[in-house]
Amino acid sequence: MALRPYIVGNWKMNGTRAMLSEARAIDRAAQRHMKVEVAIAPPYTLIHAAHREAEQIGIGAQDCHPGEDGAFTGDISAPMLADAGAKFVILGHSERRECHGESNELVRSKAEAALKAGMRVIMCCGESASTRDAGKAVKFVTDQLRASLPEIEDPDNLLTVAYEPIWAIGTGNTATVADIEEMHRAIRALLVELYGAEKGAEIRILYGGSVKPDNAREILAADEVGGALVGGASLTADSFMGIALAAG
Ligand code: G3H
Repeated sequence: MALRPYIVGNWKMNGTRAMLSEARAIDRAAQRHMKVEVAIAPPYTLIHAAHREAEQIGIGAQDCHPGEDGAFTGDISAPMLADAGAKFVILGHSERRECHGESNELVRSKAEAALKAGMRVIMCCGESASTRDAGKAVKFVTDQLRASLPEIEDPDNLLTVAYEPIWAIGTGNTATVADIEEMHRAIRALLVELYGAEKGAEIRILYGGSVKPDNAREILAADEVGGALVGGASLTADSFMGIALAAG
């Protein structure tokens, strides 16, 4: 059974309690638009309050530590996030891989921890501009994913992949539909190889990178695109729900 389009807002390091009004507005609008699954990942500091105040949409986190507890100053574990109300975790985002030196191996161990804590995982992948210019984007992304994805029995509703070309994030540049489709088909083939024909075919593959209300319809209609991971345009309910409305 095909899952609904999945539109996820990644608020990154944005938002104080004043922004909970946007979460509430997204929640209200999403209840009127049930054809699409809507979720947001606010910063850690807002997860619990957003979970309490935006009850119908999924609230998630942007990272987790691979361990359950211990002497790791400043880190947050997957069980802590689940306890705060998080239903999913975004992992392997290029900003974590670049700014925090996260390896595929570490990302994979975080994914295993998140699943063990009962949360869903959105696994990010994406190539740099130089890798794309060198004609190595598909190989880079599929190698990155192969090394980052966790072993999992029933991945279809627990695992989502987000393809985000690094050069498209926050730049206003999006990949062409042809490039998105080429990459999403390659990712689909990998998911089928790793998880089997039936389960691998059900996993949603999101596109991320400068998705806005005015380009969302074309991107979301592309082959094998099951939704969007949205950064900047998820920070207001108006623009974020403009994207969700374009999805279905
Ligand atoms: O996680 C979201 C992506 O990094 C996309 O961000 O929509 O601001 O380009 P953006």
